[in-house]
Amino acid sequence: MQKLANRVANIAPFQVMAIMARAKHLQALGEDVIHLEVGEPDFIAPEAVNQAGAEAIAQGKTGYTAATGLPELRQAISKFYQSRYHVQVAPERIVVTPGASGALLLLSSLMVNEGQEVLMPDPCYPCNRHFLAQVGARARMLNCDASNNFEIPLEALDQEWDEHTAGVWLASPANPTGSVLSQEYVSQIWQSVRRHEGHVLVDEIYQGLVFEGEDFTALSVSDDIFVINSFSKYFAMTGWRLGWIVVPEWAIDGATKLAQNLFISAPAISQHAAIRAFESDVLAECEVRRLELATRRKTLIKGLKRIGLPIASAPQGAFYIYVDVSGITEDAMAWSLRLLEEKHVAVTPGADFGARDAHKYVRFAYTCDSHRLEMAIDRIADFIAGY
Ligand SMILES: Cc1ncc(COP(=O)(O)O)c(C=O)c1O
Repeated sequence: MQKLANRVANIAPFQVMAIMARAKHLQALGEDVIHLEVGEPDFIAPEAVNQAGAEAIAQGKTGYTAATGLPELRQAISKFYQSRYHVQVAPERIVVTPGASGALLLLSSLMVNEGQEVLMPDPCYPCNRHFLAQVGARARMLNCDASNNFEIPLEALDQEWDEHTAGVWLASPANPTGSVLSQEYVSQIWQSVRRHEGHVLVDEIYQGLVFEGEDFTALSVSDDIFVINSFSKYFAMTGWRLGWIVVPEWAIDGATKLAQNLFISAPAISQHAAIRAFESDVLAECEVRRLELATRRKTLIKGLKRIGLPIASAPQGAFYIYVDVSGITEDAMAWSLRLLEEKHVAVTPGADFGARDAHKYVRFAYTCDSHRLEMAIDRIADFIAGY
């Protein structure tokens, strides 16, 4: 009998997928389900981007591109770093990938040896550890507290570093917590990791979606930090499967070889469309959406407080609120499933994001409008009253 490779057994399925499937099923049965579980707002790609994609198809621009991406797109990304974040990033350092997911896969191969470990916060984006597993490496998750903005304490980083450690992976703004790192913190992390001769990755996929704190890029701290980004969140282009990684100059050749072999190229149509994303009208549209997300964030924070769900500190970015529900239940997973079945509100239990306190937490994504969020709050209040 044929068998799956051993590593598959160690890949945990995304719990949120099961919740989404059940939510869709309930919806198909005619129930009005409020979706706060998905990492994708109810926006579609800006119209001008859609049109640019349609034009690319009409003009037959559908073949492979250069492995590192269309030169015009790399140039546009480089200009964006200059105009918005005032940092110079040579286009040659930008490798366009199929989503941030492609960038994470590429980085795992580029920077982590078999048997090595990468330090990352618990909680964090669940796929990170699975990308590492693909290269025979492991994530070592370090406990992070809400009271400390879910940041890895600097002392912990030094204490945990040993001969097996390859680097540290952070995200800002982060999923699932919405926390935003300060430039000062990233700089301190970089100083410490540099002493250990390791690498730092900062996943900036939620860049631009910042409501409090600094919207900066880790590239302003050092050209030797690896930075990942994507068109999925700020530009609402999840299904276009397009992202990028910025690598230090000394890593360009290695990253290029991997891009050639892993992907041949990122999707051509998406790349042609994405060039349009950096023009001022599209950026203005993205800003309007950011402001809409800011309003939703306020609505949800206020609503959660009203129904007695404490938030240690308001998350500063992304579109998530990671809420401690341990005052109500000892099992956030069972609580989330019952909330969906009984009140048709879909949320993501913490189990997807970590181990230590995961059973206490639920992630709420403010991916629908304030009116729907208010409805969700009322339903959750009813649910808690009867729990
Ligand atoms: C922190 C983080 N990194 C990476 C990804 C992958 O994004 P994509 O492959 O759509 O660019 C996600 C998706 O939600 C995410 O939350």
